Amino acid sequence: MKERIEQLTRELQEHNYNYYVLSKPTISDYEFDMLLKELHDLEKKYPQFADPNSPTKRVGGEITKSFETVFHKYPMLSLSNSYSIEEVEDFETRIKKLVDHDLEYVCELKYDGVAISLTYKHGELEKAVTRGDGIKGDNITTNVKTIKSIPLKLFGNDYPQEFEVRGEVFIPKEVFVQINKEREENQEQLFANPRNAASGTLKMQDSSVVAQRKLDCFLYSLNGENLPYSSHYENVLKSAQWGLKVPDYKRKFIAKCKNIAEIKEFIDYWDKERHKLEFDIDGVVIKINSYRQQQELGNTAKSPRWAIAYKFKAERVETILESISYQVGRTGAITPVANLKPVLLAGTVVKRASLHNADQIEKLDVRPGDTVYVEKGGEIIPKVLGVNFSKRPQNSVALEYISNCPECGSELIRVLGEAVHYCPNSDECPPQIKGKLEHFVSRKAMDIDGLGAETIELLFQNGLVKNIGDIYDLKKESLLSLDRMAEKSANNLLQGIEKSKTIPFERVLFALGIRHVGETVAKKLARYFKNIDSIIDSSLEELLSVEEIGEIIAKSVNAYFSDKRNLQLIEKLKNKGLTFALSSDQLADKTDKFKGLTFVISGVFSIFSRDEIKELIEKNGGKCTGSVSAKTSYLVAGEEMGPAKKEKAEKLGVKLIDENEFAAMLK
Ligand code: IVH
Repeated sequence: MKERIEQLTRELQEHNYNYYVLSKPTISDYEFDMLLKELHDLEKKYPQFADPNSPTKRVGGEITKSFETVFHKYPMLSLSNSYSIEEVEDFETRIKKLVDHDLEYVCELKYDGVAISLTYKHGELEKAVTRGDGIKGDNITTNVKTIKSIPLKLFGNDYPQEFEVRGEVFIPKEVFVQINKEREENQEQLFANPRNAASGTLKMQDSSVVAQRKLDCFLYSLNGENLPYSSHYENVLKSAQWGLKVPDYKRKFIAKCKNIAEIKEFIDYWDKERHKLEFDIDGVVIKINSYRQQQELGNTAKSPRWAIAYKFKAERVETILESISYQVGRTGAITPVANLKPVLLAGTVVKRASLHNADQIEKLDVRPGDTVYVEKGGEIIPKVLGVNFSKRPQNSVALEYISNCPECGSELIRVLGEAVHYCPNSDECPPQIKGKLEHFVSRKAMDIDGLGAETIELLFQNGLVKNIGDIYDLKKESLLSLDRMAEKSANNLLQGIEKSKTIPFERVLFALGIRHVGETVAKKLARYFKNIDSIIDSSLEELLSVEEIGEIIAKSVNAYFSDKRNLQLIEKLKNKGLTFALSSDQLADKTDKFKGLTFVISGVFSIFSRDEIKELIEKNGGKCTGSVSAKTSYLVAGEEMGPAKKEKAEKLGVKLIDENEFAAMLK
């Protein structure tokens, strides 16, 4: 079995590399999943052969309360910036004065993400640390292990026994758009740009959430005592053979340059082409290739003298703001949007731009008919930066922000301390009603089959549903009376509704659509309070004591459950049979972590009692037996354990663990 586990591990590593580093998969996703499942099952059955850096360890799951501080072996400096080619020329002149040999430059992309330092020891990823203050950073290894393009084990046998590689973790543009779309649907605060999203993600406590965020990474430099070459470019390219995802020279992500003309060519090329990349860059980095020359040049307090960053100017254009429209979200939040005369910006035609809120409009003093500056910086959604006042039409009048909802006419309200206006008419305002219904039935919430946006519109137009509770009053006869609703779809829909009653508590809580309560927050609340009544009765202080819940969320939860209409809705849903408490399995903290594993407990313990250990094993799906046999997976060994047991375990290759190791397995 050991051989099969090793073979699967190798094969899966290779496939991971083909897929995530080379972007050239050689097997289907399905085949990959099957191999991964086989390995997963084998590792569960034979944990003694499981590798801590196995490809199965990429899904996350470990929670880190606070990250350990680690000192960098080599300080992580920053780069001095330049904004014009003249400044790059000055850089060259400076260097030529300090070094008298021929110079070779390396031009690279400046990735707009989060710097990371990885240490590989004996070909295995040992730790991953953030830049921090440059001297010490956070140990975020558990989170980084979920990034599939970072190898946990290296290929080949000619890598140094210990070395450090640095790079940039980022979120590809497309993934970023998707994450923000989901956050918008969940009424969670949007990430301003992919860099913020990447840095927020890397610092999350729950690595399984990190795993879902699809982070990627480019590794751009090596440090160590026994690197194969004495120059930067050669080492970077060599390390690609070990499976590291380094910049692709074939795509011109990295190039050697002999002089300023070649450097300029590289910069100009990427200034034009950068918008076509699948990730953000904010400039080009120019480095001296030879390590010896790098050393000769040395560092200033903050940055190396042998490198400089050239930053691109954020592209900005002028266009006419034709009108402002106001969107109403499912929680009633009003978003002003600028409708622009279409204009080409950073490779796409822009017709709309964000205006954020009333304060922003007032600050910029934008008015319909104005010529405005629009920029697409790190952000994906373009934004209006300001007004070209010299082009303002003479008859222009200051814009008055709407005071009534554009959809239902209700007077808008503004919560003290918040910038956003809300329409309070949550029960009657059509986009709010439909938005809440759509959210409630969506896949990650109640997942009701046969109830998409179109059907909701149909039911709403015909007066059959006006709120979430009405869904559970739907009858077959009334459904059949609708156009476009045949017997089969009606049955389907009713079945889907029935099935939703078994959806677990945390998803019901998420489905309610409480402002700022996304999937993760709903889960944390459900786990902490265990049932809806405890949440309803909770105080602000108690809410604040829940992990990852801050003031804004706590206040929002409190406000939601202070509203009588919401309490009535919950009462109704309870009566209809929806799940408003954790199941007994969830309550008992039952997991299948130890499924298929057999334990023998022997000796005296100091942290746990024997009974506690037994209970924990059983709660987590494992089995306890009295004597060691070939079927035993682990012998949990305490003080004064019988020597016969120990000897037998050793003979059979059963793994011995102490109570600390046992506790670690439970984490
Ligand atoms: S070299 C001492 N190369 O830019 C030189 N940095 O301001 C350190 N960055 O913290 C880094 N792409 O996060 C280097 N190709 C690249 C880079 C790069 C992005 C970031 C990195 C660093 C910051 C420096």
